Amino acid sequence: MKGSKLTGYGYYVPEKVVSNFDLESKMDTTDEWIFSRTGIKQRYIARDDETVADMAALASKRALDMAGLNPNDIDCVIMATISDRKDFPASANYLYAKLGMTNNAPAFDVKAACTGFVYAMHIARAYFAAGIYKRILIVGSEKMSQMLDWTDRNTAVLFGDGAGAFVFEASEEGDGIIASEIFSDGSFTDLLYADSGLVKMDGREVYKHAVRNMSAVGLQVLESAGMRIEDIDWLLPHQANIRIMASAAEKMGFPMDKVIASVDRFANTSGASGALAFAYAAQQGLAKPGQRILYTAFGAGLTWGAAVIKI
Ligand code: COA
Repeated sequence: MKGSKLTGYGYYVPEKVVSNFDLESKMDTTDEWIFSRTGIKQRYIARDDETVADMAALASKRALDMAGLNPNDIDCVIMATISDRKDFPASANYLYAKLGMTNNAPAFDVKAACTGFVYAMHIARAYFAAGIYKRILIVGSEKMSQMLDWTDRNTAVLFGDGAGAFVFEASEEGDGIIASEIFSDGSFTDLLYADSGLVKMDGREVYKHAVRNMSAVGLQVLESAGMRIEDIDWLLPHQANIRIMASAAEKMGFPMDKVIASVDRFANTSGASGALAFAYAAQQGLAKPGQRILYTAFGAGLTWGAAVIKI
């Protein structure tokens, strides 16, 4: 089967840092409560005039530079996002324009909440296998700050803004996306959704589903890849909450020192979270070429999925 290679990645976060201490003056919460329940210390918050597509473009440019490609070399743009204020057209269309693309490549959004990036990689894998596209740009970008009720301490403390981008290129011997699995269960839409543009959540129920589904799908995708935990260098779980990440890792038998975790720094950036955390870890010298990553995600829908990627 035809495959692909990950040839570029990049991330972008806005300038403004909002710490847990900053939130103490805005709502009835404490740094101690937030950090002990979630592992979050701070989050980045976009400027009012900074859009989902702006952040996506900055992350994409870094990924394209690393791949040594121009925007017009890309023949398909897939964007994972749920937080754009525009109902249509797709955020990916705005990204196309911001990148200065003129080649009429298809550009569309995947709306699978925090699992969006894994859904996008699953689609890309199928395109490569079918020989349809040669260079696919996948971007997760979220401005969650505009989806939050800043008086609701149950949700406002959990999320942040940012973007992460991957460039995959077709390769006969390539194994960039070795395996991927995606799932959903629409009977739990009421656990996590946005109403009139604001996030609503039953945190405790979401927590249980997140641990169960992320660990199960992680093991499932390993089986479809014909691999075992020992074959994986890094577990890259959706960065929602360090306790969820640690419990899922433990259930899978994965040691915590092999878990990529930057939720303390970026909080939950939904569809951007995995690619952002990965690109940041690579920049810190953690993840290295040739290594295998198990990326597991979970989110509203409910949706969940996992992919084994080689870097
Ligand atoms: N600061 C202080 N208190 C808060 C608070 C905050 N920011 N947010 C909620 N509380 C209060 C609640 O009002 C509740 O009070 P009550 O018992 O008087 O009603 C209490 O803290 C809940 O505490 P606890 O049961 O210890 O919380 P928890 O351990 O379940 O943690 C979450 C709460 C939200 C952190 C946790 O359930 C969680 O992370 N869930 C998953 C959320 C998530 O990641 N969603 C995105 C998935 S993609």
